[in-house]
Amino acid sequence: MGVAYKAVQWNRQKFVYDIILLSTVVFYLFCFEGISLQFSSDLDLKGIWIRAFGSAAFILLHVILSIGPLSRLSAKFLPLLYNRRHMGVTMFILALLHARDALAWYHDFGNLEPIVSLFVSNTHYADFVRFPFEALGGVALVILFLMAATSHDFWLTNLTAPVWKALHMGVYLAYGLLVGHVVLGALETNTHPFLTLAVGVGFVWIVGIHLMTSLREAQKDGAPLFGKPAKAQVDADGFVHVGSVQDIPENRAKIAVIAGERVAIFKYDGQISAISNVCQHQNGPLGEGKVVDGCITCPWHGYQYLPDSGISPPPFTEKIPTFNVKLQGDQILVSAKPNLPGTPVVPAVIGQV
Ligand code: HEM
Ligand code: HEM
Ligand code: FES
Repeated sequence: MGVAYKAVQWNRQKFVYDIILLSTVVFYLFCFEGISLQFSSDLDLKGIWIRAFGSAAFILLHVILSIGPLSRLSAKFLPLLYNRRHMGVTMFILALLHARDALAWYHDFGNLEPIVSLFVSNTHYADFVRFPFEALGGVALVILFLMAATSHDFWLTNLTAPVWKALHMGVYLAYGLLVGHVVLGALETNTHPFLTLAVGVGFVWIVGIHLMTSLREAQKDGAPLFGKPAKAQVDADGFVHVGSVQDIPENRAKIAVIAGERVAIFKYDGQISAISNVCQHQNGPLGEGKVVDGCITCPWHGYQYLPDSGISPPPFTEKIPTFNVKLQGDQILVSAKPNLPGTPVVPAVIGQV
């Protein structure tokens, strides 16, 4: 972690972000209510709020799913990424309010507990039109709950980054279930084609933007769009040529892909050091950050690492893998094999042969 780390503390930017987020949600909910009261004759107020909460959560989920790819396409979207967890938690609360009202409305009058009723009252699992669409929403809600409940950095540290990230990838499963929930729900409860069309447009957007981002990332890495990437030329000592010293601006990095892993090669104080491109905090791209006060500083939330050891400056203890580096004239060569996280390496001195 870095000394300038501010991510989990409240700051003005976060405060403004949350106020904009919450006021947009409240504005949407009341607009939805107003327009529905005006134009929809078949719904009472309770029914309108069930739809208002459900649609607000679903739209926000599209925004959340777009932030990752968008911020990889343009740095302008990065401020949204830093605060994505707030959007995630807001979305979960909206989904919970929708589910609570729907359960109270549709499942509170029988002999069964509403939650039990949700899963057993409709068992037409083999029937497309009468499929129990609400159960799909219920499973998605459980996944979203797990994500929101483990969202704090405390859980990131305790679950370890790979487990935590795998849990977050569950959002795509939740999204798939929710597409089913809304489309099959619309089919069953009303036949309004607009809702199905809107879900279709949202789906094409989400898939399209993810595809576009992966093509762009593959291009950046120099990998071909199809087939296996060409093998890097490794010299007799196990080093790979990654470019020239002039390619890298002072205190900045060049990102190279070596043996399938992204490596950040930094130039600072007349020296070159290489470390893993992946930040310990939330996998941020370290090579897009810069050297501040002698430390490589992650562009996402400011975690810092010493360039020659990959260790965070005291009192922090994060460690990332380092790579041996050497220079041949002004050409940089980086070892194809990473060192264990936190292994000190001697930086290559520019101009020294
Ligand atoms: C509440 C606390 C949350 C935190 C701290 C958080 C943070 C993160 C982080 C760090 C990643 C991995 C980033 C990467 O490697 O690109 C991630 C992945 C993801 N999270 Fe969350 N998240 C939270 C909640 C949610 C919720 C509730 C949702 C939506 C329902 C969500 C949506 C996503 C998505 C879509 C991804 C994977 C795709 C991507 O990289 O954009 N997150 N999240
Ligand atoms: C226990 C969980 C859930 C239950 C019981 C449930 C129930 C329902 C019901 C009964 C409807 C039809 C409402 C109507 O047409 O009058 C509906 C629609 C919908 N649900 Fe859910 N739902 C659940 C979870 C979710 C979640 C987690 C989301 C999104 C994050 C969601 C989003 C939606 C949306 C967008 C609609 C369509 C709204 C519209 O017709 O305008 N639901 N849900
Ligand atoms: S500081 Fe959060 S990802 Fe690097």
